[in-house]
Amino acid sequence: MAKINYKNVHVLNHPLLTHKIAILRDKNTGTTTFRNTVKEIAMLEGFEALRNISTKKTVITTPLEKTTQPLVDGSKLCFVPILRAGLGMVDGLTDLIPGVKIGHIGLYRDPKTKKPVEYFCKLPKNIKNMEVFLIDPMFATGGSAIDAVRTLKKKGVKKISFICIVAAPEGVKAFEKVFPDVPVYIGALDRQLNSNKYILPGLGDAGDRIFGTED
Ligand code: PRP
Ligand code: URA
Repeated sequence: MAKINYKNVHVLNHPLLTHKIAILRDKNTGTTTFRNTVKEIAMLEGFEALRNISTKKTVITTPLEKTTQPLVDGSKLCFVPILRAGLGMVDGLTDLIPGVKIGHIGLYRDPKTKKPVEYFCKLPKNIKNMEVFLIDPMFATGGSAIDAVRTLKKKGVKKISFICIVAAPEGVKAFEKVFPDVPVYIGALDRQLNSNKYILPGLGDAGDRIFGTED
């Protein structure tokens, strides 16, 4: 198992997560189970990654008395999936916090260079005042996540975290070098990239497996 000790990199490594990620890794897992499992994993990771979101003290009345409780204010939060595969994680996270805004950044890895190419970007108008969670199941070379964080920073966003499911040490190192200040939440840290820049052992092409486009 690769070791990463950066302050802002959190490898979640929970048995419920490793179990569900093993389901994704299995090449015999079909599209429907794959998609549902990605959703469940996103929800489990969200529980940890959203631990420090801001809350607003609100008075509510129980059957017995008035009490002041910290409630989550979803209007200040934004999830930004990196298309396509990040879309698979959106429902699991929005089930936790309905009312949150959703932006989209479309990137694909050029098949030859493996560098990200941006083809779409639609973000909420006041995104710079929001706390943004970038989401993408795969963190391989780190190129896509680095590009997406650059885009968000150019828009003036100050609070950014990145949530992924499977990461390669190469990507984590590259990202941490550029953005040591951005917290990263990882479901499982894998061994390495192969010569095609796919994660080993990994789970294959996440976008293709979520959307059933592998053949
Ligand atoms: C995958 C994945 C990430 C990227 C990770 O996208 O969803 O966005 O690769 O690789 P990196 O860390 O080396 O940049 P892909 O290019 O396959 O596009 P897709 O989601 O549309 O299939
Ligand atoms: N993108 C994927 O979908 N899988 C990988 O292993 C690497 C990049």
